[in-house]
Amino acid sequence: MTIAPTADTRLDLPSSTADQRVLMLYVHVPFCHSRCTFCDWVQAIPNKDLLRKPGDSVRENYIRALCREIEHRGAELADAATMPYVIYWGGGTASSLDDDEATRVMTALRDAFDLSTVAEATIECSPDTVDERKLAFFRDLGFNRVSSGVQSFDDERLKRLGRRHTADQAIRLTHAARAVGFDDVSIDIMSGFPDQSVDELRHTVDRALELPVTHLSLYSFRPTPGTFMRRRMDPDEKRGYLRSQKLLFTEARRRINAAGLAEYASGYFGKVSPFAAMYFQLRADTVGLGSGAISLVNQQFLSHRKGLLHAYVQAPTSFDIAVPASQDRVLVSFLQAGLAMFDGILRDEWRTATGTDLDEVLTRASIAPLAEFLRGRGLVSDERGIRLPVRNVGVTLIELAFEMAMSQPELA
Ligand SMILES: C[S@@+](CC[C@H](N)C(=O)[O-])C[C@H]1O[C@@H](n2cnc3c(N)ncnc32)[C@H](O)[C@@H]1O
Ligand code: SF4
Repeated sequence: MTIAPTADTRLDLPSSTADQRVLMLYVHVPFCHSRCTFCDWVQAIPNKDLLRKPGDSVRENYIRALCREIEHRGAELADAATMPYVIYWGGGTASSLDDDEATRVMTALRDAFDLSTVAEATIECSPDTVDERKLAFFRDLGFNRVSSGVQSFDDERLKRLGRRHTADQAIRLTHAARAVGFDDVSIDIMSGFPDQSVDELRHTVDRALELPVTHLSLYSFRPTPGTFMRRRMDPDEKRGYLRSQKLLFTEARRRINAAGLAEYASGYFGKVSPFAAMYFQLRADTVGLGSGAISLVNQQFLSHRKGLLHAYVQAPTSFDIAVPASQDRVLVSFLQAGLAMFDGILRDEWRTATGTDLDEVLTRASIAPLAEFLRGRGLVSDERGIRLPVRNVGVTLIELAFEMAMSQPELA
């Protein structure tokens, strides 16, 4: 079956220009109720910090530091012509914030930025942290989109993944989110666990497609060092794992497309999320707030390194990494992210965000081999930008992410 890109990806989304910076406000919440065996978002955070509960003094200091950073970053941008367009609270598990914590963070955001132009405000959830009351609370706080991790609809698998919810709880979350008035509900499912069968994945995909969701994200497992699942993998079986990952992902996307949720970026189906389009296509400056958050502002790449919660609390307005966005390593990560979008990387947006020319970047010594590999996969280059043929995007990006993760040594 041929999979067509949705026309919607060329949609009516604003992009930063020299006169006006579109802003994406990303808030990072580095706490969860448990550590999942596959997760590479929190592997740098020690358990004692990851699992801290509301009321804990370190957590309390974190929320205070986060509010301080929000105030500071807002003041820094106060004189610039900016238009906040997207808010995204992720993590970790953003929905693990209690009412008081979440209210303080949202109040800090409202005080620091003019949020009247925000089109999409997403709260990332996990099914064990929310019920109907909490979802209604998030809606009243100003969110209009819920995105929840689910990963699988197989209870046995969920247990082995270290999840603290059942398939039923995940199903209830989607119905409750719609019932309290969220029009946009997204869930994440995963493919490519080392021992996953096609039948198991089909079951998960089919359950997901029965739900009242407007968006579905399908992630192929990245075997990142530091995750429990990676430690269990046999390096001699590498080729077999990759083959299976490609097969599973291809089968899942075929099924989802066939059910009518069109794919607009690799593994992203349904109603195009401005957050995803802005992130992939560098349409906005990203103001990343909190430990572990990255920013792209004024052609600078800034980062608070993950896991350094205590250092962040001491100095929430200074960065562990602050380099020009024109650096090769930064650009390679933008290239890989951007090619996920079927509409591809846009020349003008790229130049505005990074200060570099896309063609020049592809000839740089450390980037040329990647460019050559992408050309072998049919990379298209025209006036608008560069993109991979839709049929090649998913498997090409899985290969790149898999090889990159497996080439890094397991952590001691
Ligand atoms: C930052 S996590 C937050 C989700 C939320 N805390 C939850 O677990 O329900 C966002 C998503 O990243 C995906 N993810 C995490 N680790 C991954 C990995 N190693 N490879 C691919 N996707 C991963 C999962 O699908 C997860 O739902
Ligand atoms: S998948 Fe979600 S809940 Fe699990 S460890 Fe990662 S961020 Fe936390």
